[in-house]
Amino acid sequence: MLQVEQLAVSYGEAIALEGISITAEAGSVVSIIGANGAGKTTLVNTIAGILRPRAGRILLEGRDLATVPPHRISAQGVAIVPEGRRLFSKLSVLDNLLMGTYARRGQAPGPFTLEWILELFPVLGERRKQLAGTLSGGEQQMVAIGRALLAQPKLLLLDEPSLGLAPIVVASIFDVIRRINREAGVTILLVEQNVPRALELATKVYVLSNGRIVQEGRPEELAQDDRIRQAYLGQ
Ligand SMILES: Nc1ncnc2c1ncn2[C@@H]1O[C@H](COP(=O)(O)OP(=O)(O)O)[C@@H](O)[C@H]1O
Ligand SMILES: [Mg+2]
Repeated sequence: MLQVEQLAVSYGEAIALEGISITAEAGSVVSIIGANGAGKTTLVNTIAGILRPRAGRILLEGRDLATVPPHRISAQGVAIVPEGRRLFSKLSVLDNLLMGTYARRGQAPGPFTLEWILELFPVLGERRKQLAGTLSGGEQQMVAIGRALLAQPKLLLLDEPSLGLAPIVVASIFDVIRRINREAGVTILLVEQNVPRALELATKVYVLSNGRIVQEGRPEELAQDDRIRQAYLGQ
């Protein structure tokens, strides 16, 4: 459903990504792992239309996203849970969640309802009137995921959802990501530095280093690979 072909992205003169080709089948979970500065955020932000590529193509269900204006990309079915959540801290939980629906203005309703989001994250119902800035990191991540789902994505981009969260909270966030994929059939592109978790959930894994894909494979293959074990699994 997603095909990225020979993508190149620069910040001014600085090359951030070069020759990136990845594919995601409908209903799969594709994980992108790599060290700080490898280019992971640049990749998901480019797929989300926040950054424009210098070269290459991004096809969503065969349609070239370069032909779609950035503000219309979410209407094509791509939503992002950005690095650092990026909530409106002075707005309520409910208002932050509803931000996701604005991308859908004038379109047919999609499958994801506020009720389903609050079933996924019951604590958000209890805190719906609370200002987002007063939530814990894990609760803020739940709001960011809920907001993205209310944009009715076919493809959900998650940029380091576990960053800065306690292990028990990470476990519950990953359970929810699994449900979003399995129960709702959303294709997931997951950027993670928590490599054991990224491998556990993935159908396919790409390793990004210095702006290039240096390895790809099924998670069980990569988990056996000496380079991956040393660099990312501490084994
Ligand atoms: N806004 C920016 N302007 C210039 N360089 C940037 C900008 N954002 C990221 N970079 C550079 O691009 C490279 C990839 O960064 P990033 O995509 O954030 O990596 P990651 O998410 O894997 O940590 C890094 O060298 C980073 O310094
Ligand atoms: Mg990043």
